[in-house]
Amino acid sequence: YENKVIGWIRVSRSISPTVDTLKKIKIIIFITTPLFIFFATLSSLFLARRALAPIDSVTKTASEIEKGDLSRRIKIPIANDEIGRLARTFNKMIARLEDTFNREKRFTSDASHELRTPITIISAKAEAALTKSKKIEDYRKALKVIIRETKRVSFLLSQLLLLARSDEGKSILNIEKIDLKMIIESIIIEMNDKAKQKNIRLSLTSEQNLVIKADQTFIIMLFLNIIENSIKYNKKGGLINICFYKEDNNAKVIIEDNGIGISDENLIHVFDRFYRVSESRSDKGSGLGLSIVKEIVETHKGQIKIDSKLGKGTKFEVSLPVNL
Ligand SMILES: Nc1ncnc2c1ncn2[C@@H]1O[C@H](COP(=O)(O)OP(=O)(O)OP(=O)(O)O)[C@@H](O)[C@H]1O
Ligand SMILES: [Mg+2]
Repeated sequence: YENKVIGWIRVSRSISPTVDTLKKIKIIIFITTPLFIFFATLSSLFLARRALAPIDSVTKTASEIEKGDLSRRIKIPIANDEIGRLARTFNKMIARLEDTFNREKRFTSDASHELRTPITIISAKAEAALTKSKKIEDYRKALKVIIRETKRVSFLLSQLLLLARSDEGKSILNIEKIDLKMIIESIIIEMNDKAKQKNIRLSLTSEQNLVIKADQTFIIMLFLNIIENSIKYNKKGGLINICFYKEDNNAKVIIEDNGIGISDENLIHVFDRFYRVSESRSDKGSGLGLSIVKEIVETHKGQIKIDSKLGKGTKFEVSLPVNL
């Protein structure tokens, strides 16, 4: 009273209910925490399994493919997530591998078939000549066939080697300055005998010189193959006209003939290796010429177009960069 303490009041209460509650909470925590940890571990294991299952399947298929079955594909998961994209990319890669592998296999079997034919002829002719004694004239005939077929084998081998070399890409090119006019003129001179036999006229209508940077051996092979075809697949008394000009930074060479032509369904295949048009073609060939032409143009970063009408004639348009 008036700032003086006059007495104390003490209030107390039992804490036993609080202690009880705390004990209960302790028990609950003791039981639920391990349970919670247990279920959490279980469910995270389950989720991880589920998430990793597609990767597991990718690995499994990949190891099967590695053992040699290139036709297998990875099952693509429905979701378009990272794994789905991985599987798709993987499948594309295997498809490409399978395609290359099959082409390589076909090429090898075609090549060995092409080589086997002349070799069989050579050995059969030689054996037949040796069985009984014959007239000198018979031996001469046999030897002529043997020489012809040997030439075929050696030509085929050189074409195959060229293809194998060009498969390695641009690095094998021996680039130098070459004069297109001089090269085409020399090919025309070389082909003149063959053309004369069929009374075919070969003409070059471009006057100016055109210098480009390219591999001379390949460029000669390129135009030799196209011009040889326009003589081979031409009628008696046919015409072949060659001209070239510069357009932008490209040299364009046009080779046009009025020969037997190619039908539309065959036209799309003429650049395939070993493809030959069967109808009305009696001339021998391996079907490698135009695939070599295409490889050469591509390794020079150029372009080639073909236009043809059955019975009317064929036109090739080759475009090569002036400065490779
Ligand atoms: N100028 C052309 N006129 C008509 N047909 C052609 C002409 N050039 C090519 N062809 C057709 O295209 C096919 C493929 O030509 P390609 O030069 O690749 O092979 P090939 O001449 O048969 O054999 P190779 O050139 O290897 O001796 C030929 O078989 C021929 O039928
Ligand atoms: Mg040819």
